[in-house]
Amino acid sequence: MRTLELAGGAVPVIGQGTWRMGEDRSAHKLEVAALRQGIDLGMTLIDTAEMYAEGGAEEVVGEAIAGRRDQVFLVSKVYPHNANRKGVAQAIERSLRRLNTDYIDLYLLHWRGQYPLEETVEAFERLREEGKIGRWGVSNFDLDDMHELASVSPANACATNQVLYNLEERGIEFDLLPWSQQQRLPVMAYCPIGQGGQMLGNAALAQVAARHAATPAQVALAWLLRQDNVIAIPKAVRPEHVTLNAQAAQLKLDAADLTALDRAFRAPQRKQRLAMV
Ligand SMILES: NC(=O)c1ccc[n+]([C@@H]2O[C@H](COP(=O)([O-])OP(=O)(O)OC[C@H]3O[C@@H](n4cnc5c(N)ncnc54)[C@H](OP(=O)(O)O)[C@@H]3O)[C@@H](O)[C@H]2O)c1
Repeated sequence: MRTLELAGGAVPVIGQGTWRMGEDRSAHKLEVAALRQGIDLGMTLIDTAEMYAEGGAEEVVGEAIAGRRDQVFLVSKVYPHNANRKGVAQAIERSLRRLNTDYIDLYLLHWRGQYPLEETVEAFERLREEGKIGRWGVSNFDLDDMHELASVSPANACATNQVLYNLEERGIEFDLLPWSQQQRLPVMAYCPIGQGGQMLGNAALAQVAARHAATPAQVALAWLLRQDNVIAIPKAVRPEHVTLNAQAAQLKLDAADLTALDRAFRAPQRKQRLAMV
């Protein structure tokens, strides 16, 4: 699978999300198996968070990566209400325990909260010095947040911004994405297939998919990945979804495909507030 440079290492452009995993005990085995299958297929970046199932998703990940920690690039996130000096120091220990590892490759602030960014950055930098994380980054930061973050961080310290980005939610293309590209800051696109919802039923998307003997979800992923420095992190439990998502990395869209998709899913003409789920 194609890779890009993130946090000083090469990561696959398609990783695996884990939101909603760990919520239902009866799905546990399937979730662990899905993540393992994804790793086997090259989707070795796994995105999780202390929020997901209140630690349950991290436990699923911990089980899935047992015995193969070194093959995986782990991303987790701290709740904003834990993002102060003491809270970060405690939250990382809980996450490490659930993930059954001694370091997280990339640790993100899940969204902006009540604590000054300066304090969160300081806490993250301490974790880096202690070797508990490789790098740190943010999530759900709009352009003004990124500017503010840059003013309180060591140069190039923030390794990524994870944001909602898919065919239906193109707001970041107006300003945040071009700025990130210019800074060579990788953007992690969450909900890349619109949570498997109505987006996948779009007629134009279906036509493009049919032309490539692919599925709408695969086209949605390929559409994101036509750009440099964008990583998609679809979440999939069904084994056929895992396989299809990994295969999407090979799908190349042509100019006619992109025009058809642009007509069906309009690019932003003005600044839009950063969308979040
Ligand atoms: N930073 C943030 O604030 C934030 C917010 C939201 C999400 N995230 C991260 O981003 C990840 C992805 O977002 P998401 O899980 O909300 O949505 P998503 O990945 O866009 O969609 C997941 C849904 O799509 C289905 N699916 C997966 N592959 C498919 C395929 N090839 N064809 C058809 N359906 C498919 C899944 O079904 P099955 O599971 O049944 O296979 C699941 O119902 C999350 O899991 C999480 O790690 C981060």
